[in-house]
Amino acid sequence: MSAVTALRVEDLHVYLGESHVLQGVSFSVAKGGVTALLGRNGVGKTTTLRALMGLVPRTRGTVEVQGENVTRLPTHAIVRRGVGYVPEDRDVFAGLTVEENLRLSERGGDGRYDLVYDLFPELRERGRQRAGTLSGGQQQMVAIARALLNDNSLLLVDEPTKGLAPLLVTEVAVALERAAELATTVLVEQNLGVAQRVAQHVVVLDGGRVVHEGTAAELFASPERVRELLGVHGGHN
Ligand SMILES: Nc1ncnc2c1ncn2[C@@H]1O[C@H](COP(=O)(O)OP(=O)(O)OP(=O)(O)O)[C@@H](O)[C@H]1O
Ligand SMILES: [Mg+2]
Repeated sequence: MSAVTALRVEDLHVYLGESHVLQGVSFSVAKGGVTALLGRNGVGKTTTLRALMGLVPRTRGTVEVQGENVTRLPTHAIVRRGVGYVPEDRDVFAGLTVEENLRLSERGGDGRYDLVYDLFPELRERGRQRAGTLSGGQQQMVAIARALLNDNSLLLVDEPTKGLAPLLVTEVAVALERAAELATTVLVEQNLGVAQRVAQHVVVLDGGRVVHEGTAAELFASPERVRELLGVHGGHN
């Protein structure tokens, strides 16, 4: 089982201040492909990713990456186990060039520049440009590229298409599909069109718990179920 399980989360509890944000989150992600982590605003999607990275204190629960228990490990050790995190706010260094941003994320050994530039040729062309002057979509490419530069086995990506123009949304979706060929990807995504396009599996959170787990095809085939779980119509934006 562990050989094919990229991520296993069991009974994860997180408190932020007074609020019990994650109330026993459990789900598994098989190796390969994209799992969309979905749910209405404020249900705990970002907190789940941050808890997996050890960025917020977990009061209870187990996290396994590739069969290894990483629950008690600090963030840097989880990163070294091959988990890449692309946070919601992108976190590129605006004052540094694209190249410098990439170089800063090298985890030792050789960065996979050929692979990253093959995936995002534009980043090579814009190597000397300050990241702060890039479009939102281009900054998202830098953020994803930074996670792919290292030989990660698991990528956690938080709302990469948020606030992007439609054309850039498509570009980022293509990039995610290619990224997922290299590493198992857990994608938090509000744009259901993107989730439907790139994800094979879905995990839906509500009130700090998993309320649905299954294939993307099955969920998106049922507009009623999508509406019930996500409070929106299925299919698009
Ligand atoms: N530092 C904090 N202290 C207290 N409560 C917090 C803190 N950060 C987040 N929360 C609360 O925890 C809940 C979950 O937040 P989280 O950011 O994980 O949700 P989300 O599903 O990612 O939402 P969104 O779709 O808006 O990105 C929210 O109700 C939020 O208000
Ligand atoms: Mg969020």
